[in-house]
Amino acid sequence: MDEQKPTISVGLQGVYITETKICKVDGNVGRLYYRGYAIDALAKNSNYEEVAYLLIYGNLPKAAELEAFRQQLKEERDLPDFITDIIAKNAEKADPMDILRTCVSALSMSDSYAADQSEAANFKKAIRLISKISSIVATIGRCRDGGDYVEPNKSLGHTENFIYMLKGRDPTPQELKPVEMMYILQAEHSSNASTFSTLVTGSTLADIYSAVTAGIATLKGPLHGGADEEALRMMYAIGDPSNTEQYIEDALAGKKKIMGFGHRVYKAYDPRAKIIKEYLLSIQNNSSDEVAGLTEIALRAEKLMVDKLGQSRGIWPNVDFFAGPVYRSAGIEIELFTPLFAASRIAGWCAHMIEYWRDNKLIRPLEYYTGGLDLNYIPIANR
Ligand code: CMC
Repeated sequence: MDEQKPTISVGLQGVYITETKICKVDGNVGRLYYRGYAIDALAKNSNYEEVAYLLIYGNLPKAAELEAFRQQLKEERDLPDFITDIIAKNAEKADPMDILRTCVSALSMSDSYAADQSEAANFKKAIRLISKISSIVATIGRCRDGGDYVEPNKSLGHTENFIYMLKGRDPTPQELKPVEMMYILQAEHSSNASTFSTLVTGSTLADIYSAVTAGIATLKGPLHGGADEEALRMMYAIGDPSNTEQYIEDALAGKKKIMGFGHRVYKAYDPRAKIIKEYLLSIQNNSSDEVAGLTEIALRAEKLMVDKLGQSRGIWPNVDFFAGPVYRSAGIEIELFTPLFAASRIAGWCAHMIEYWRDNKLIRPLEYYTGGLDLNYIPIANR
């Protein structure tokens, strides 16, 4: 082979695939912006519906626009019977992410606009997806606990209704605050793996249901959305806070990755992790024994990891590390963490897909072939 070996960007590291106005991640200083607004300001002042509107339409809504958007989300909350059947029949034994992926794919079959690729139809489908995915995740959680589908309550806000459909009652402030915060913090993060796979699928001009189904499939992995579940499992495995340092030292000595640390883009403290940690500290004195124990483990693990690998290796806590104790403070079970991540990130996936389609280009990278050529074909009987 006389072809010169090209430079290969393994894992597409450092490769820009498009221009965007949706999200800026400044990994060197640990800053994150949705449509130019710093994540700290949004987490402090905004709510998920407003953030979803901002991501999809590109500007903060005026009061009447937000009200109309909220109304559209409310109208889309119900789930068709065939979706609640899939959930009810599988929730007790199947992986919640598998159920979610299947349901979102199946949703296209009850949408008469599914194949309509106009931007107006795609905005409509985005609203439908944002609304229904939360209902699906709540219903998966409810049916896992042996409950039945709870009809949505259309007088409630988006995240309030999520908790209502999950628990069958109105949320308490202690449940609502962390869930709302996590919805905002996980709504968008530029061309992460799941957003990229959404774009790859959509770039073939497949419909938005196909595109976000690919995104959900990609989010499932423990190197991406599944890391929050793994981080909490590690905290449970540590058990007593006094075991934390030894556990982490042993894991690092065994070349194991500590889930919830490290990031492809952030080489500084992930600003989302800072916000989640602050919240955890704010509830520390009023939390259950379980959450208090998890918080102590998390803080001890964070200190050790930051001392060992922070400045020296650029490995800092990411959004997933403190998420587990915070979700537990809202009584959310571990298996719902990644589905909830999807219920939030759907806004980012849809925003990117709609933006990309305005100047669509098929995504089709290259591979450098290192196998043989012109091999002699030997009939099967002679091999
Ligand atoms: N614990 C210990 N060492 C780590 C960790 C970690 N969490 N993360 C990276 N490293 C080390 C890694 O072992 C490697 O060391 P060496 O150069 O000696 O082989 C070096 O840092 C580079 O790691 P990499 O995996 O090649 O880097 P990457 O840019 O491909 O990885 C990552 C980014 C997120 C996959 C990785 O940091 C990781 O696996 N972290 C744990 C999983 C996790 O928390 N994922 C959630 C990411 S944030 C939310 C999201 O986007 O979904």
